[in-house]
Amino acid sequence: MLNPGDILQGKYRIIKALGGNGMGRVYQAEHTMLKTTVAIKELIDQFSTPQERQAGIDLFLKEAQRLAALDHPMVVKVSDFFIERNNYYLVMEYVEGQTLESILNTSSGGLPEALVVDWAINICNVLEYLHTLSPPVIFRDLKPSNIMLTQMGRLKLIDFGIAREFKAGATKDTKPLGTPGYAPPEQHGTGQTDARSDIYSLGATLHQLLTKRDPADSLFMFPTLRSIKPTVSETMENIVAKCLQRDQAQRYQTIAEVRDALRLCRFCSNCNRLNIIPKEQVSKWNFCIYCGHKL
Ligand SMILES: Nc1ncnc2c1ncn2[C@@H]1O[C@H](COP(=O)(O)OP(=O)(O)O)[C@@H](O)[C@H]1O
Ligand SMILES: [Mg+2]
Repeated sequence: MLNPGDILQGKYRIIKALGGNGMGRVYQAEHTMLKTTVAIKELIDQFSTPQERQAGIDLFLKEAQRLAALDHPMVVKVSDFFIERNNYYLVMEYVEGQTLESILNTSSGGLPEALVVDWAINICNVLEYLHTLSPPVIFRDLKPSNIMLTQMGRLKLIDFGIAREFKAGATKDTKPLGTPGYAPPEQHGTGQTDARSDIYSLGATLHQLLTKRDPADSLFMFPTLRSIKPTVSETMENIVAKCLQRDQAQRYQTIAEVRDALRLCRFCSNCNRLNIIPKEQVSKWNFCIYCGHKL
């Protein structure tokens, strides 16, 4: 564990811990020469044999290289990677803002649908970017605590599960990948995970953002949205229910399909009312049926 004032690589000065778990922490730090703020994710060496360690490092490095190659405004940028005091460190862009989990915690009974639709479309855009890379990147741990909202109102995905993959190399770890409640059935068993696994996690995330109900309350069981919050639109209820199908084949098959469905529910930024636009009429030029404002 690092303390405020500690220096890594002769240039990163630790400011404070931001969060973390048994595998390591995330720190806020200053690049002492550039005077910029960065976030540093630490992975503590917990391997029990040299073979496990080597496999773990290989996996971690591969994953770090993969992350460093990503280039999207909603994906946190990686700038450095190093090993020091036997621990592994990943340096990334510091996001000034809050996680969606902490925003949700301060709300009463969930967040407004208009806001959630807007976020959902943006999350679809970044997932589409990841899913259409070659080979595809499956995020696998989408949930409100891994999405941050910047002060400028933009969303960023943090936590690309490096710790999780890294940990998977150690035999000590027998936990399933992903987070209970957000991970689909196939991620718990031997099933193959693919883009549709992220679609399930997106469904669980949207369900929670709208209702504040914790999806870990009872695994794979989601009460219909409107049984918890009757003001939610039927369109949204149907979209979330389809994302949350236990059988992969019953879900949307691509994230682009989810986004197209979400685009049918457009909220007017002027009068905040929901407009359901027939699929064939969706365009850049849709107007609110209530106040005429451009949607
Ligand atoms: N790039 C970042 N910028 C600012 N805060 C971050 C950043 N990455 C992580 N955090 C903070 O650290 C917490 C834990 O980070 P995360 O990467 O989700 O690790 P884990 O879930 O494995 O503990 C987050 O909830 C967030 O508050
Ligand atoms: Mg996390």
